[in-house]
Amino acid sequence: YEEFFSRYLVILTRRAIKWSKLLKGNNRIQKSLKVKRYIRKGIPNEHRALIWMIVSGAQANMEQNPGYYNKLLEGEKSDTLVEAIKTDMNRTFPDNVQFRKTANPCLQQTLYNVLVAYGHHNKTVGYCQGMNFIAGYLILITKNEEESFWLLDALIGRILPDYYSPAMMGLKTDQEVLGELVRKKVPAVAELMDRHGVMWTLIVSRWFICLFIDILPVETVLRIWDCIFYEGSKIIFRVALALIKQHQAFILEATNLPDICDKFKQITRGTFVTECHTFMQVSVSSLQCRTGKSYETK
Ligand SMILES: *[C@@H]1O[C@H](CO)[C@@H](O)[C@H](O)[C@H]1NC(C)=O
Ligand SMILES: *[C@@H]1O[C@H](CO)[C@@H](O)[C@H](O)[C@H]1NC(C)=O
Repeated sequence: YEEFFSRYLVILTRRAIKWSKLLKGNNRIQKSLKVKRYIRKGIPNEHRALIWMIVSGAQANMEQNPGYYNKLLEGEKSDTLVEAIKTDMNRTFPDNVQFRKTANPCLQQTLYNVLVAYGHHNKTVGYCQGMNFIAGYLILITKNEEESFWLLDALIGRILPDYYSPAMMGLKTDQEVLGELVRKKVPAVAELMDRHGVMWTLIVSRWFICLFIDILPVETVLRIWDCIFYEGSKIIFRVALALIKQHQAFILEATNLPDICDKFKQITRGTFVTECHTFMQVSVSSLQCRTGKSYETK
């Protein structure tokens, strides 16, 4: 990992210089092909929160609704919602000291506020497991409660269609779609899944719900999120396909259901996923057809 990181630092430095030229100190950008290309190569840490805010539309919504977030927090609360959120508090990043009850500032309180506010903002969704990790990650990156709320709103309300609403129709659909993509792109793996009657949801629902948090290495997750905020949920498919394609031979060694599950766990570790820069290059081109035309416009 250290060897990778020393190489990655060089890339990060180069990208940081390019980004500061792009932003020219005024911290404003418009969506464009150039910005998209830049984002695919990674947003430097110091600009990450801002760029996520801008390209997801969260910044615009926050500016158009001053005081809205605080009003949600001051408003009346649903007891069931509050209970559900409280139950998950101690289970969210228990290994991260910043989320301990004794931490100062205590991110657990911030997380609680963001989730309670969101549950009252979007009553169709309310709260469901998985959102705690997404919101927690947003808080760690933005270090800002209100921005985390608006980014959560961008993700759940617009970018990820219906992943967290009670019926989870969007999530179910997207898992089916992934299954179909695998059938087209990596047919032998689809055939293996069929033969053993394995449902994709058993394997990939956490990939979709947690957006790879605690599944892939942190730096890789951030690079994936960079692209999700700009390009949307199609990035999840691209990453999943890249993972499966790369490890096709390894997955095909599986001879039974537990084996298949284990293989899919193992492919989320190791050099391929740690080398986040190369990994993202492979991922964003993972849906390319033979003609070189990509599905990018979809
Ligand atoms: C969470 O942990 C704290 C302290 O460790 C404890 O006081 C509290 O009761 C726990 N909450 C739940 C809902 O388990
Ligand atoms: C709530 O989330 C659902 C599902 O993602 C979305 O369709 C809806 O527009 C959201 N509503 C609000 C008020 O954000």
